[in-house]
Amino acid sequence: MTDAKIVELESALSPHTPLACPLQISVMDPDGRLWPELQSQLQSSQLQLRRLSEQDAAPKAGRQLLLLVDNSMISIVFDELERRQMATPPLIVVGDPGNTALMRRAMRLGAVDFLPFDYQPAELWSALVRVADKQAASASLAPVTVVVNGKPGSGASFICANLGYALGRHHDDDKTLLVDANLHYGSLADYLNVHDKQGSLAGGMERATEMDAMALAGMVSPARERLDVLPSLPASFNDHYQPTAKHCAQLMYLLRSQYQQVVVDLSRGPENWNLPMLECADHVLVVMQQSLSALRETLYLLKRLRHELGIPKTRIILLINRYDKRKDLSLKKIEQTTEVTHILTLLNDFTMAENCTDLGKLVVEIEKKHKLVRVFDDIADEITPQDEEQATRPGLLKRWFGRH
Ligand SMILES: Nc1ncnc2c1ncn2[C@@H]1O[C@H](COP(=O)(O)OP(=O)(O)O)[C@@H](O)[C@H]1O
Ligand SMILES: [Mg+2]
Repeated sequence: MTDAKIVELESALSPHTPLACPLQISVMDPDGRLWPELQSQLQSSQLQLRRLSEQDAAPKAGRQLLLLVDNSMISIVFDELERRQMATPPLIVVGDPGNTALMRRAMRLGAVDFLPFDYQPAELWSALVRVADKQAASASLAPVTVVVNGKPGSGASFICANLGYALGRHHDDDKTLLVDANLHYGSLADYLNVHDKQGSLAGGMERATEMDAMALAGMVSPARERLDVLPSLPASFNDHYQPTAKHCAQLMYLLRSQYQQVVVDLSRGPENWNLPMLECADHVLVVMQQSLSALRETLYLLKRLRHELGIPKTRIILLINRYDKRKDLSLKKIEQTTEVTHILTLLNDFTMAENCTDLGKLVVEIEKKHKLVRVFDDIADEITPQDEEQATRPGLLKRWFGRH
């Protein structure tokens, strides 16, 4: 099945509840009794299916799940799992419900579910949903902001770099990751003057299922204090790696577990492989310029985001870049046409933008009090949930005068 087909099935036709996080399922089915069925039932960009051979060690806990199909060797596998010092991965056992000895051993190992050979696919899916819910609840995942162009060249990368920096300044302990999702050529690293690229998004996706936090740390490039970038390295024509939604979903989960904020530069717009980025986004910032042609293309994008991907209006922010209030296309008209009520504007400053591009500097590094800096800070304010302490803390004036 193609990647596009998987995404299509997941987004509209599939009756399945989506999984809260990606899972890697190791299937032990030496007789191949259920393997062909499992392969066709478990088609999801959130799932990575692997069949273990007899020589393979049982997987470690983490995002791994072990699915054991009863066979003549199963007691050896149970022995090994019982002997092991480390935690058993979440376990699902498929066998004959009349085999009470098997069922009891599975229970002793804390199996999530015991299914009959002729289980209903929905039963297996609901066990997977429970495992994913539990895993996601124990992991703390960074919110994701995707910056996407309504029309190519509207300023997504410039905004991404500056917004990423503003987000990183927000909370002292937060680390922000900028992801350049332009696989052909991405300019995010240039905006941040990062030349020493250690890895790339394509490399990260290719290794997504085997990578851990340490491997990831060797792949991102430090850009500023508390701000890293996962750049894009243009692929050569000999490079055969095809990005997939499955790899993208797996990598996003790892990235979100290692940072407090993730900002994605999607200046080339949605493509099949990057849809998981949009699906997991808490905020989608759609960048458009103030012209009729930009409005037309943006409308088309918004339609796709809302109706094809099911992204609610509340998650969409429209960012009018290079805004000029004297232009005919007013904010009111834009709001009426797009039906997006959350609209922000960024003023036009060609000289500043050009300086930033030429020097590889952010606006704040050239002019600390520039108006654009304030807008980037405001956007960061809007998309970062205030922590409770901050939200309930009275403002400075209130604290000062409230004492009397
Ligand atoms: N607010 C702005 N004022 C003036 N120029 C801008 C502004 N935002 C972006 N630009 C310029 O527009 C050009 C395209 O921006 P860029 O972010 O690279 O586009 P893309 O949307 O393709 O990622 C760049 O030269 C950038 O400096
Ligand atoms: Mg760009």
